[in-house]
Amino acid sequence: MHKQLDKLIEPFAQIKGITLKHLHITLAVLSISLFTYRFILTLMASKNLDRKWLKISPHVIDTFLLIAGISLAVKLHLNPMEQMWLAEKILALFAYIFTGYYTLKLARNRPMQILGFLGAMGWVMLIVRLAITREAMFFS
Ligand code: HEM
Repeated sequence: MHKQLDKLIEPFAQIKGITLKHLHITLAVLSISLFTYRFILTLMASKNLDRKWLKISPHVIDTFLLIAGISLAVKLHLNPMEQMWLAEKILALFAYIFTGYYTLKLARNRPMQILGFLGAMGWVMLIVRLAITREAMFFS
């Protein structure tokens, strides 16, 4: 398990702590911006949604965002089993990904898409709050 984790974060382990944090935040901003852009295109029922780069880049960015987050946690010796805010953040990320998937793929009409988007943004607000305060809101 440890060996697999080391392999996953190896390319990121070379990056200095502060740069890694900036990379992590940049990827987070990119992820949220791309999701918002795809949501707007969905509301407009735009054909641009089918563009190849729009289909592939969110997966690439979200994967790197997760790896950068894990690398940061390993580098700073933060264990989600001990730091409850980090465990909460990881769960909130999965909830954000699911509500995002719901908004773009499962929601069948405009009100459902708008509700899904607002739900996803609620999870983003929790994630950013957890990142800044480093205090768990639900687990203690
Ligand atoms: C949408 C998803 C995410 C957003 C918006 C986000 C945002 C942020 C922000 C803004 C910071 C800087 C906080 C500060 O220095 O004041 C940060 C730090 C951090 N994030 Fe994330 N993050 C996300 C996902 C994740 C994930 C999935 C993990 C873990 C697997 C993670 C782990 C960390 C760690 C360990 C730090 C450093 C905390 C410290 O300096 O003590 N993040 N994140």
